[in-house]
Amino acid sequence: MAARIAVLASGGGTNLQALIDFYAGERVTAAGTIALVASDRAGAYALERARAAALPAEVFDPSDDGRGLLTLFERYSIDIVVLAGYLRRIPTSVVSAYRDRIINIHPGLLPEFGGPGMYGERVHKAVLESGTKVSGVTVHIVDEEYDHGSVIAQWRVGVREDDTAVSLAARVLSAEHTIYPRVVDMVAALSDLQSRGEF
Ligand code: GRF
Repeated sequence: MAARIAVLASGGGTNLQALIDFYAGERVTAAGTIALVASDRAGAYALERARAAALPAEVFDPSDDGRGLLTLFERYSIDIVVLAGYLRRIPTSVVSAYRDRIINIHPGLLPEFGGPGMYGERVHKAVLESGTKVSGVTVHIVDEEYDHGSVIAQWRVGVREDDTAVSLAARVLSAEHTIYPRVVDMVAALSDLQSRGEF
């Protein structure tokens, strides 16, 4: 049975869209299925994308120590949780209940250029200011600290001489859209095998 994925998004949801498109095209071979899209913001465009794809779209209260989230995850029988532009810290109760089954994507090569406040354009500005010639994408396990859990996958994106934070962000985001669905589905496959006692 396919692993049931919840996607959490606070914003525009282009990574959510990449996941929706991937699963729309890979129904036969996929190890996962998007069972829920949830947001802390009722106005998040990600929710529109979910509705357009006929997926359940729910809003939760981010200030209740994870109770609402865990209720939703139970209601939709969620196996793994995918953060896609979700900007808040995941409450400890949720991290504990879904240990090693919550993943996030970061638009830089962690452990550099991560941590509290390092999101969006700030990451790319810091990369450019550092003078490094390489940026990239990191997919990692979510634990109690921002941008801190084990790295699952990284992919490098070169920094060009004439890059601005905007141009670099666009290339990194495009890499995210390719990488994230594939890594999410790999995690779905592994979590499925694990739940069947294979390892
Ligand atoms: C992405 O850059 C992702 O790495 C970060 O937040 C951004 C989300 O963009 N975590 P979108 O909402 O998926 O378009």
